[in-house]
Amino acid sequence: MTEHSLPRGMIRATKTTGTHEGYMPGFGNDFETEALPGALPQGQNSPQKCAYGLYAEQLSGTAFTQPKPERAWCYRIRPSVRHTARFKKIDLPYWKTAPNVLPDVISLGQYRWDPVPMPGAGESYTWLTGMRTATTAGDVNTQVGMASHIYLVTASMVDEYFYSADSELLVVPQEGRLRFCTEMGVIDLEPKEVAILPRGMVYRVEVLEGPCRGFVCENYGQKFELPGRGPIGANCLANPRDFKTPVAAFEDREMPSRVVIKWCGQFHATEIGHSPLDVVAWHGNYAPSKYDLRTYSPVGAILFDHPDPSIFTVLTAPSGQPGTANIDFVLFRERWMVAEHSFRPPWYHKNLMSELMGNIYGQYDAKPQGFAPGGMSLHNCMLPHGPDRNAFEGASNAELKAEKLDNTMSFMFETRFPQHLTEWAATEAPLQDDYLDCWTSLEKKFDGTPGVK
Ligand code: FE2
Repeated sequence: MTEHSLPRGMIRATKTTGTHEGYMPGFGNDFETEALPGALPQGQNSPQKCAYGLYAEQLSGTAFTQPKPERAWCYRIRPSVRHTARFKKIDLPYWKTAPNVLPDVISLGQYRWDPVPMPGAGESYTWLTGMRTATTAGDVNTQVGMASHIYLVTASMVDEYFYSADSELLVVPQEGRLRFCTEMGVIDLEPKEVAILPRGMVYRVEVLEGPCRGFVCENYGQKFELPGRGPIGANCLANPRDFKTPVAAFEDREMPSRVVIKWCGQFHATEIGHSPLDVVAWHGNYAPSKYDLRTYSPVGAILFDHPDPSIFTVLTAPSGQPGTANIDFVLFRERWMVAEHSFRPPWYHKNLMSELMGNIYGQYDAKPQGFAPGGMSLHNCMLPHGPDRNAFEGASNAELKAEKLDNTMSFMFETRFPQHLTEWAATEAPLQDDYLDCWTSLEKKFDGTPGVK
């Protein structure tokens, strides 16, 4: 990206070791970057006086005493205490937070939604007003669980900034291109990529190419990390070098501005006289990043049967109970199917974990019809589900030659906690009334006689 394509007045690092087009490679590295030469102190974090008259400030994403603390040291024009004033509560009625269990909404059921329609002419939504919560799980006050959202964004935030004290956000675009101007640098994001926005980090969202639609997983708990690889070893799945963290970028703007903060499920606004995106240099391992899903190298069955879908985990957010994630982000993408004498699509199952799926593009193999790009489905804790009749009959009778599963990219936000529908998801969103019908024609084949039916 060239300098002139940055937002007005934004200055980006010109020299940073290991950069590629404004991003630094690696997952959770201890990065360092400066947008002005000499702005980053060397050999210490908190000099008596910082270069350029900057203020030193630490952003801690974990408790200080966590075994692997995650934090960033920021060198900024004003300390963050100058980026808030008195707060007033504001209403963003479609952005919900757990616990949000509604007595009149039935979350127990297999649900599927058509794509939420793009806004019509005259409708204008920003990142904040265009967020529609579909499900919530856990409890934000105890920092466990998650929410799933659909976003519809047509307009850039102007002199408006946001951060969530509640959560880390995993953004999965499905249509349109967005720009996240963050305290730590600029991320441009398009479909087939995902972004991770850390808890507490201030940003503004601009539309590069709209309208924009996508999915968000709001993680109330411990940060996403790369899954343990076990016997897979060091390679394949998501490789750390394919995560990209932006180089430092800042703006020095004196302008009436509004900062919105999400805190314990409530939204608060505060008015200030300048841009809070004023970090000139930073170092540390607590920073936003993006990842290109096309670099995900899937691993699977090469003789018969197939592994659990956990084999497709891109990122996992631990819950404190080993092997039982607060959230797994799982990707179903193009791959070769080669298993012999096996039913190749996902099998029928009933699962402790609650599964929210979204389709980014193409056709999902267990649901050839009805699960459209932009659509989503929910299979909740201990609710049975599996291939629809067409997928079952097709896969049961197919000639099992090597076959490329092409033009397919779906994902799952899977959590150990039951997911509760919001009123929007249950009433306003395009819920499919006939989803259950995809299984009703699965007939009884058993007649007591031996042999394959
Ligand atoms: Fe499932």
